Amino acid sequence: MCGIIGYIGKKDSLPIILEGMRRLEYRGYDSAGVALVTDKGLTVFKKAGKLSELVNLIGVNGFRSNLGIGHTRWATHGEPTDQNAHPHCDCANEIAIIHNGIIENYLTLKRKLQADGHTIRTVTDTEVLAHLIEEMYKHSGDLFTAVRKALLKVEGAYGILVVSTREPDKIIAARNGSPLVIGVGEGENLIASDASALIDHTRRVVYLEDGEVACLSAESFSTKTIHDEEIIKEVEEITFDLEQIEKGGFEHFMLKEIHEQPESIYNSLRGRLQVDQGTAKLGGLEPVLAKLLAAPRIIITACGTSWHAALAGKYMLEQLARIPVEVDYASEFRYRNPIIRPDDVMFLISQSGETADTLAALREGRAKGATVLGIVNVVGSTLARETDAGVYIHAGPEIGVASTKAFTSQIAVLSLITLLLARHRGLSAEQGRLLASDLMSIPAKVSKVLEISPHIRAIAEEFKHVRNFLYLGRGSNFPTALEGALKLKEISYIHAEGYPAAEMKHGPIALIDEDMPVVFIVPKDAIYDKVVSNMQEVRARKGRIIAIANEDDKEIDALAEYVIRVPRTYNFFGPIVNSIPLQLLAYYMALARGADVDQPRNLAKSVTVE
Ligand code: AGP
Repeated sequence: MCGIIGYIGKKDSLPIILEGMRRLEYRGYDSAGVALVTDKGLTVFKKAGKLSELVNLIGVNGFRSNLGIGHTRWATHGEPTDQNAHPHCDCANEIAIIHNGIIENYLTLKRKLQADGHTIRTVTDTEVLAHLIEEMYKHSGDLFTAVRKALLKVEGAYGILVVSTREPDKIIAARNGSPLVIGVGEGENLIASDASALIDHTRRVVYLEDGEVACLSAESFSTKTIHDEEIIKEVEEITFDLEQIEKGGFEHFMLKEIHEQPESIYNSLRGRLQVDQGTAKLGGLEPVLAKLLAAPRIIITACGTSWHAALAGKYMLEQLARIPVEVDYASEFRYRNPIIRPDDVMFLISQSGETADTLAALREGRAKGATVLGIVNVVGSTLARETDAGVYIHAGPEIGVASTKAFTSQIAVLSLITLLLARHRGLSAEQGRLLASDLMSIPAKVSKVLEISPHIRAIAEEFKHVRNFLYLGRGSNFPTALEGALKLKEISYIHAEGYPAAEMKHGPIALIDEDMPVVFIVPKDAIYDKVVSNMQEVRARKGRIIAIANEDDKEIDALAEYVIRVPRTYNFFGPIVNSIPLQLLAYYMALARGADVDQPRNLAKSVTVE
């Protein structure tokens, strides 16, 4: 997810664009750039790092242009470097493009363009588009048509702005999957990823839909479909304020990120899950696939929520791919002088890619000869750079300190890795297709769970005064229980413990009374009856039960005081769907207790110290 802005009008575009980029920086903040067009040509400034780095680079240069575009990056293809920052240009530096999204078939397009003589300077997917437009321009001679024709060859998601020195009186914009909104002004027009960058200049906006292309000039704008059909767009009025926009209308980034999960999970699967073949394709692991398949065991290390994802990964990798998996807290792994064999493969999971303990575990594993692989969200982060290979989870920026969408995307990626390895280790194509189609159905199932937020909020209100909570689950839902307990601890400051349900009898059952609510994750799977008997043990001691159960489970009402119903899914993927109500329960509990949800006390988004 990146931030995009464009301005065309009579005013000096640079200060307007930089202010807009500052508003959009929450969307992506690892590098930034601008392109300014005058009749003297194209001027591009781009810099890795925070927006302030770019502002310093531009400095006070007295440069003036009425037409400019700006981009704040959240890298997906190519590390956040000066060169990989946007805008990207064509061979002649006459066309500049900024892009938010992922071009899935960029490698195929790149090879063709290089064969046609184009010099492509970066590894990014976006630069390929600049050259493709250049190629189309040769035949059409007009920018609007060139962009449209180029996009007809593109597969993937995009929100793009294109400018050219040959037509210094327009901005071409196109959308497919990534948001774009035009700001309609007097003698000027703007366009951006969201209205937060426009609101100072106009409240009159036009939202582009997928498959639409727009041409903006200072005086007007026109819109067509990518297939060249005219469209008349309605101009709407912005009614909300800035803070609301950055949070997408949600009260907190955490709630916004919880509601982004249908999209973020899909982005983790996009272009990787091959439902028809019943397998997964992970380009980032291809260089090490042979080592991965020959590995006598897999070691996964991480911290916090990422460690819970690792544990969920162990359950599916061992049962589906039949490969031994060891899961370690990175902070323990680094000091316990672990026994590592040269043919061992280690996965290190981290949202930020900067967690000190996880980096130390990486270096320990490497020093002992293991192949070290990353499952990371932040592109170009230290962990991504130091590992031998890996997979980006593509969850987008996670601003809320309490990790939510990164957790579900980490498990989605572990599911892809499991499917890939399992298909090489005996899982049939038929079984693979069943699992793959179930995995592909998860974004929709998560959307369904989000619809029952009001019900979960009412339960949180009911329990907002308690001091302790117990979360219990079996199998793949033991890590779900751990994650639910961590979320509650982190943001509502209530003491909570997650436990394998059967372990309760070996101690925690002593805590059970009417003041100790117990959350059971109890889907209708092979160990359902076992969990039900644990529920009866709690009820016998007056424990108050909240059950996360399946929609078609009729018996559960008799056992639980509150039931939160979730769609059925393969139990390996259960931690993705079943953790959503636990994220919401923790969020609404924190809200009811007046806690600072996005900046909880004593915590940091990335723990870069020991
Ligand atoms: C989770 O909500 C916390 N923010 C924390 O436990 C976090 O998961 C842990 O610090 C690991 O962070 P990482 O994934 O960025 O390495």
